[in-house]
Amino acid sequence: MKKTIAITRGDGCGPEVVNEAIKILKTVSDFTDYDFEFMDAPAGGEVWKKYGTNLPEQSFETIKKSDALLFGAIGLPDLKPGVAESAILKLRQGLDLYVNLRPIKLYNTLREICPLKDEFIGDGIDITFVRENTEGLYKNIGKLEENSAENLMLYTRKGCERIIKYGFEYAKRKGHSKVTSVDKANILKPSQLWRKIFHEIGDNYSNLETEDIYIDAFCQWLIRAPYKFQTVVTGNMFGDIISDEAAFLIGSLGMASSGNIHPGKVSMYEPIHGSAPDIAGKGIANPIGTILSIRLMMEESFQSLEIGNEIDKAVESALNEGRTVDIKSKSLKTLSTVEMGDLIANKLKSRLKA
Ligand code: NAD
Ligand code: IPM
Ligand code: MN
Repeated sequence: MKKTIAITRGDGCGPEVVNEAIKILKTVSDFTDYDFEFMDAPAGGEVWKKYGTNLPEQSFETIKKSDALLFGAIGLPDLKPGVAESAILKLRQGLDLYVNLRPIKLYNTLREICPLKDEFIGDGIDITFVRENTEGLYKNIGKLEENSAENLMLYTRKGCERIIKYGFEYAKRKGHSKVTSVDKANILKPSQLWRKIFHEIGDNYSNLETEDIYIDAFCQWLIRAPYKFQTVVTGNMFGDIISDEAAFLIGSLGMASSGNIHPGKVSMYEPIHGSAPDIAGKGIANPIGTILSIRLMMEESFQSLEIGNEIDKAVESALNEGRTVDIKSKSLKTLSTVEMGDLIANKLKSRLKA
């Protein structure tokens, strides 16, 4: 199966982690029926400095023609906030990628470095955030004036329905028993619409329990009893924030993956972290969030649960042998970004050959 994958390396640690994810794609290509062709689609801050645009027309055309996009991270500390980053919104909105799927799973082997006390972890942490990705505070870019500035939190019925429905279908497909909705319906009108639609849709899924939690209380439940949650649907801004909080519970921001998805259309896969200027260029960034984004690409864009599962298992077994510094263990070797990527690619190779 031939597939074209557009590649945006981006800024800071972006190129470093993307290179490791490409190793995984090449391993899949070498040992399965998939045949991947890669096409560069530069975007971000460095590109803005060269061409005066953070998403050149040619890159966008390449992405639109591809079967999926692998995206690193963008943003540079010497640029004003937003100059590079707005390229992400151009992609999410331009490709109508209304689902931001953010799974947060604690590998057993990382339990020892989870910042929570053992009794707070219970049987484990395995939560998938289904974040609305095109509306809310991100819908319009807003207005910045000398003495005032505004963004509008806008949700439409269509926007709420499609993401909430996706969340319920996701929960059903994964065999979950509950869907949690996180909102701020005690004050925000868009959340009141969201909550109403959540229950309208939930009524059609009699096997799934539904629960609503306010965002502020959710932030403490996430620390106090993360094992309570399975599928969590939420709006754009809340989803951005709580997924970074949750990522630390599984070891590091560098561990968390994501898919920006429109089912059946070109979708974009990226780690949830940013360009990490504090560690960029040092060869120490954790590539696992980006590698697990390939797992999501295999599952969601290329319908291969099996290969997705092999990637997950390869990561798990590599974590028993070595770790990047952000998740380091006294008893294991500390690895560079490249060494971590090589180890996972080797584990995957053995699994796919078997
Ligand atoms: P960040 O996610 O880049 O970094 C936050 C912290 O997490 C830093 O200490 C960093 O070193 C650490 N970290 C991040 N990725 C890591 C990895 N793979 N391995 C180990 N440690 C890792 O967030 P920030 O510092 O707030 O933002 C930096 C830039 O990235 C900003 O310009 C921001 O706008 C941008 N950003 C881009 C994206 C994206 O491209 N999707 C996402 C978030 C932030
Ligand atoms: C993310 C990022 C983006 C977001 C920014 C950089 C636009 O934080 O992908 O999590 O807010 O969605
Ligand atoms: Mn974010």
